Amino acid sequence: MNPRLNQLQPYPFQRLRDLFAGVTPNPELAPINLSIGEPKHATPAFIRAALTDALDGLANYPITQGGESLRKAIAGWCENRYGVRLDPATQILPVNGSREALFAFAQAAIDPSRHVKRVISPNPFYQIYEGAALLAGAKPYFLNTRPENGYRMDFGLVPEDMWADVQLVYVCSPGNPTGKVMALAEWRELFDLAERHHFVIASDECYSEIYFEEEALAEGGAGAPRSGDATPESGAATASQPLLTSRISGGGPPLGALTAAKQLGRDFTRLIVFNSLSKRSNVPGLRSGFVAGDAEVIRQFLLYRTYHGSAMNPAIQAASTAAWQDEAHVVENRRQYREKFAAVMPVLKDVLEFDAPDAAFYLWAKVPRSPRWNDDAEFARELYREKHVTVLPGSYLAREVTGVNPGKGFVRIALVDSLAPCVEAANRIIDFVNR
Ligand SMILES: Cc1ncc(COP(=O)(O)O)c(C=O)c1O
Repeated sequence: MNPRLNQLQPYPFQRLRDLFAGVTPNPELAPINLSIGEPKHATPAFIRAALTDALDGLANYPITQGGESLRKAIAGWCENRYGVRLDPATQILPVNGSREALFAFAQAAIDPSRHVKRVISPNPFYQIYEGAALLAGAKPYFLNTRPENGYRMDFGLVPEDMWADVQLVYVCSPGNPTGKVMALAEWRELFDLAERHHFVIASDECYSEIYFEEEALAEGGAGAPRSGDATPESGAATASQPLLTSRISGGGPPLGALTAAKQLGRDFTRLIVFNSLSKRSNVPGLRSGFVAGDAEVIRQFLLYRTYHGSAMNPAIQAASTAAWQDEAHVVENRRQYREKFAAVMPVLKDVLEFDAPDAAFYLWAKVPRSPRWNDDAEFARELYREKHVTVLPGSYLAREVTGVNPGKGFVRIALVDSLAPCVEAANRIIDFVNR
């Protein structure tokens, strides 16, 4: 077997199961699980109907490139959302969820003939980036994202002589778990570096549609870029400040890589964006997303995928086409998240320290000091035992770099359940901390 498989780390949820082994949660309380980033709002009926109406498609092998109607629907969505025109024939590829694409992409993008191969990833991060790099024979290089630096990836920390070995940089905006949205100035820096050092940018934007203000607050409309000046201030809302956009000015949809490239007068060379219906349309089981950007990179990725055998099921293509063409359900989806954040954040602020996220559905909260727990994992375990609430220890989402695990001392709280259980969980957390 491939010895690189031994380099793969246990997945955070496996570690959580191990952490909870032998622990009996309080039997008087119903379980509330805020650990996994699985959307739980209802799948819209029209998406279900589009899926079942298209079952005739099961009689044919789908092509790896996906049908034209789906690629056109995605191109139309990209034009509305990102303000960019993409050629559905060459610049868009449907994928079976962004996870498989983020993984497969490294296998296609990394040149194995180079002696040292580096992949840069944020830290904490979505674990697929690391596994993708390792199985492609590359070494991940992690950049810690911390509250002190506004959760930015500080590319200035990459040793100058390492850049020649960097082939791929993963970025995640809005970030999981920090909720940080990359600002225009950060994109500019990254594009400049990619041009200078010839690496490919894989921009994971699967949370891009979970944001808190429908319209941009200042000049510009939907899709308008936010300010380039992210600041690390605390996210406490005040009367003069919008509740949920305290770290960046603007409001409206988060700036994505394609819009940023356009704003900066660049083309999409060496840039690939990954997006997904899972969070946007509450269909994590559909396994549907897309990649978009550099036509030459996509041509080669398509070649890889033809052999990999990852064509999208025709019924799923039909459901996805319908989903990308509708925004009303996404607006409603955001309304539900907004309602939950508005209800939960002021409650939790009393006992946990966190910044309001720019976007996405996570709270990335500091674990308070207490003699009852030593670290984030013990906090999560005792919370589970006493209050039957599950949150994810932040250290499970990060790696130790130069003696620091930037997830240590944090927990990730996913506001995925409906309003009442989220509020109930927040109240239980207060009781738990204040006991
Ligand atoms: C940061 C990030 N990227 C990608 C994914 C994969 O999503 P999907 O494969 O459902 O598109 C997830 C899922 O939780 C995620 O958190």
